Amino acid sequence: MRVLITGATGLVGKEIVRLCHNDGIAVNYLTTSKSKLETQDNYKGFYWNPQKGEINHKCLEDVDAIINLVGASISKRWTASYKKEILESRTKTAALLKKTIDENNYPVKQIVSASAIGVYPSSLTNYYEEDFNKVSNTFLGEVVEQWEAAVDAFKDSSIDVCKLRIGLVLSNNGGALPEIIKPIKIGAGAAFGSGEQWQSWIHVEDLARIFLYAVKEGLTGVYNAVAPNPVTNAELTNMSAKVLKRPLILPNVPKFAMKLVLGEMHIILFESQRVSSKKIEQEGFQFKYANLCPALEDLLG
Ligand SMILES: NC(=O)c1ccc[n+]([C@@H]2O[C@H](COP(=O)([O-])OP(=O)(O)OC[C@H]3O[C@@H](n4cnc5c(N)ncnc54)[C@H](OP(=O)(O)O)[C@@H]3O)[C@@H](O)[C@H]2O)c1
Repeated sequence: MRVLITGATGLVGKEIVRLCHNDGIAVNYLTTSKSKLETQDNYKGFYWNPQKGEINHKCLEDVDAIINLVGASISKRWTASYKKEILESRTKTAALLKKTIDENNYPVKQIVSASAIGVYPSSLTNYYEEDFNKVSNTFLGEVVEQWEAAVDAFKDSSIDVCKLRIGLVLSNNGGALPEIIKPIKIGAGAAFGSGEQWQSWIHVEDLARIFLYAVKEGLTGVYNAVAPNPVTNAELTNMSAKVLKRPLILPNVPKFAMKLVLGEMHIILFESQRVSSKKIEQEGFQFKYANLCPALEDLLG
């Protein structure tokens, strides 16, 4: 089996590539960076420039399924031009891939795409399943709605579509966790706001396993990709401090302070989404890290 991965060089992509190789699955990947190109039989890089509509169509040769992770990081200041990049790096890339498949009649069977739980409106009480149909009225809600629509367009080319709504990815190689533990390590850790907001986290290895599970089982539709036991922001902060054996002495960081520092993107820290993993578990997926403490001990211990 051969898969094409977009965003393969990122945090989640690297873990998926690792698991693919453990499983004997060959990987083609697209990158915007010529310095990241490699050519091995089971790891072949192809250049693309989605802004200019440039793509090496050979990336799709012999490919059974696409794993679509590409997207500009949401953790940089949301200026008007950067917001456009966040959106278009998801929508234009999907459209370019679909056009390339259509023009060359590549027999790709399935696309499994990243999506995000930011689609769900912030709530301290809701417990979100995939069929919840209201979209958050934030910028992130807008991005996810257009991103999922761009991926759904593959159905018109008779390609099966699976969308994984990803929660807060915990990894020791990047993403949120190193940022969470940095202040804790120097004795300046604190929860944000009331600390009651839900954080639906997932260990990066389980996330990569879900992507491969979706490919192997030919899953279609939307699945939440979060661990079975979400925690509050205060619990996440406290548990991280406990695993690192550091005290938490400071009061919570107020929302207005983070709004001053981060601008509109401060909502990433204060949005609350308690999200259910029931649907993917009902498909037979078994989490390796269902609870936060063992996940953090694995990553930080
Ligand atoms: N990490 C999380 O907590 C989290 C949570 C929810 C959803 N997600 C979603 O899951 C996907 C993977 O996340 P990740 O954390 O692995 O992301 P990441 O580390 O930021 O990697 C994304 C990859 O996308 C490519 N890319 C970045 N900006 C681009 C642009 N403007 N145009 C084209 N390509 C661009 C880069 O690959 P090249 O340099 O090789 O081109 C990069 O390696 C993303 O779509 C993200 O939104 C992540």
